[in-house]
Amino acid sequence: MSQPLLTAVNLSHSFDYMLFENIDLAVYPGESIAIVGRSGSGKSTLLHIFSTFLKPNTGSVTLLGHDLYTLKDDQIESLRRYDIGIIFQFHYLFKGMSALENIDVATMLSGEDMDQEILEKLEIAHLMAHKTSELSGGEQQRVSIARVLSKKPRIIFADEPTGNLDKETAELVMDVLGDYIEKQNGALVLVTHDENMAARCNKLYTLEEKALSLNEN
Ligand SMILES: Nc1ncnc2c1ncn2[C@@H]1O[C@H](COP(=O)(O)OP(=O)(O)OP(=O)(O)O)[C@@H](O)[C@H]1O
Ligand SMILES: [Mg+2]
Repeated sequence: MSQPLLTAVNLSHSFDYMLFENIDLAVYPGESIAIVGRSGSGKSTLLHIFSTFLKPNTGSVTLLGHDLYTLKDDQIESLRRYDIGIIFQFHYLFKGMSALENIDVATMLSGEDMDQEILEKLEIAHLMAHKTSELSGGEQQRVSIARVLSKKPRIIFADEPTGNLDKETAELVMDVLGDYIEKQNGALVLVTHDENMAARCNKLYTLEEKALSLNEN
């Protein structure tokens, strides 16, 4: 069996109080997993830990074969630039730039080419010349998703990526993410409050009472 792209062992984290304890998780190539749970249960915090941006109080994270807490700064930088893709609920497009220029920034940094097919599937190919400020919220969100995919990351972390979208457009985004994972033999870790989106993933976990549990179907 292939090695997991992400392994978390015995993660615990607290801010003012204990958020979660003893969390274990493995995500394999080709897999999509969804994490659901009440607001404030710690889902975004968990994503920040998985994606190198926060160190937990205890535990270890292995991402694409690298033990995160033994890496040097430039190795972390390289993982962020080339290997992981992060889709936030609130996308951060550069406002004065066009959609295409926003995507170009990512492809220049990673040295990859944008996949035109993805732009077409996301129904934003015709918007490339438009300035960010001329796009609707949902269009901006899809441009930001295209920008993340244009780097060709192996593992994608997405925090409510379909939050601003109608059901049909949300399904479209999930189709694109699913196709992408399959093509790259990558993985998706999705945090969502949307049961339909969660149900489309291979595995569904719930974060509650400080623990992460796998829902058996
Ligand atoms: N940097 C921080 N410093 C202190 N407390 C924090 C910090 N980040 C998050 N918290 C607290 O940790 C808890 C979990 O936050 P988190 O954002 O992980 O929740 P969530 O499950 O993603 O919620 P939502 O579904 O509303 O997005 C919250 O009570 C929040 O106030
Ligand atoms: Mg959150």
